[in-house]
Amino acid sequence: MRVAVLGPQGSLGIHLCEELRLRGHDVDPVDRTVCDLSSPDRESLYRLRDRLSGTDCQLVINTAAFTDVDGAEQKTDEAFLVNALGAELVARAADEVGAAVCHLSTDFVFDGALLRPYDEFDTPNPLSAYARSKLAGEQLVASAASRSFIVRVGGLYGRRGRNFVSSLVTRLRAGQSLKLDRDRLTAPTWNRLLARQIITLCERGEHGLYHATSQGQTTWYDFAHALCDEASALGRELPRNFVGVATSELASPAERPRSSLLDCRMLRLRGLYQLPPWREALRAYLTELLIVGEL
Ligand SMILES: NC(=O)c1ccc[n+]([C@@H]2O[C@H](COP(=O)([O-])OP(=O)(O)OC[C@H]3O[C@@H](n4cnc5c(N)ncnc54)[C@H](OP(=O)(O)O)[C@@H]3O)[C@@H](O)[C@H]2O)c1
Repeated sequence: MRVAVLGPQGSLGIHLCEELRLRGHDVDPVDRTVCDLSSPDRESLYRLRDRLSGTDCQLVINTAAFTDVDGAEQKTDEAFLVNALGAELVARAADEVGAAVCHLSTDFVFDGALLRPYDEFDTPNPLSAYARSKLAGEQLVASAASRSFIVRVGGLYGRRGRNFVSSLVTRLRAGQSLKLDRDRLTAPTWNRLLARQIITLCERGEHGLYHATSQGQTTWYDFAHALCDEASALGRELPRNFVGVATSELASPAERPRSSLLDCRMLRLRGLYQLPPWREALRAYLTELLIVGEL
């Protein structure tokens, strides 16, 4: 299949491009020099549409987003331009050339008040500007494209790209002392395995709304301990220069849900769910880091 990937230099985009090629797909990386989603005007639409039709594209995966959750509180218009109107532009361009679109969204569309993981049938209630812009993107994509996959993810990490876990390893090795959240529940998800899950979903062609995170739950504080334990089992000691603190001690401009655990009900019901428990994925990620000499 010919697949265009927007955000090819982002954390998930890098892994998607690698995994698509490994599965034998033809990848067209579309970065912001080709399509800047903060200018979702008619010219951008035509440019993207021409690019997609010129490569005979069959699937467009949009990982590009304004992902600065705290920054979106101030730059709210920019967040909505990229995450809502920009996402709609991608969906329209895909639809006009007869391609399906896979759009990435977030666990933050929920408020975290439920005492169980959220499934695709629960009602979102975003708490931050970032989350509202992502929810708007979901709605615009669903109405602009006749064939869409909307995939909510959360707690992503992986090699290359900016993310909490890769910077955690770097900062622990540099001897920095860190305060880590011991309250908020998350299901950390390795981008490589998520990329494979997304490709499987798109290959199957069952359009709709999906949740896709690793199994289980933890906090970033407990995750950091697990990371040190697993690194140690691989013969690499990381200093545990971190303490666990309450969410309230980590003041940040944007409000985040206290739990954003997702139930991947739709993937399960369709027999497509393939993501492992988060700790198993962490072990595989660290093994990859070790093999490439980054641990
Ligand atoms: N990271 C998480 O834990 C997490 C959690 C929930 C949902 N998500 C969602 O998952 C998706 C992938 O996230 P990620 O972690 O891979 O994000 P990321 O590493 O921050 O990458 C974002 C990508 O978007 C591109 N981009 C930003 N603004 C753009 C613009 N105006 N025009 C075109 N491209 C633009 C960036 O391009 P440059 O490389 O040029 O900057 C970058 O390649 C996003 O939709 C995000 O909202 C992520």
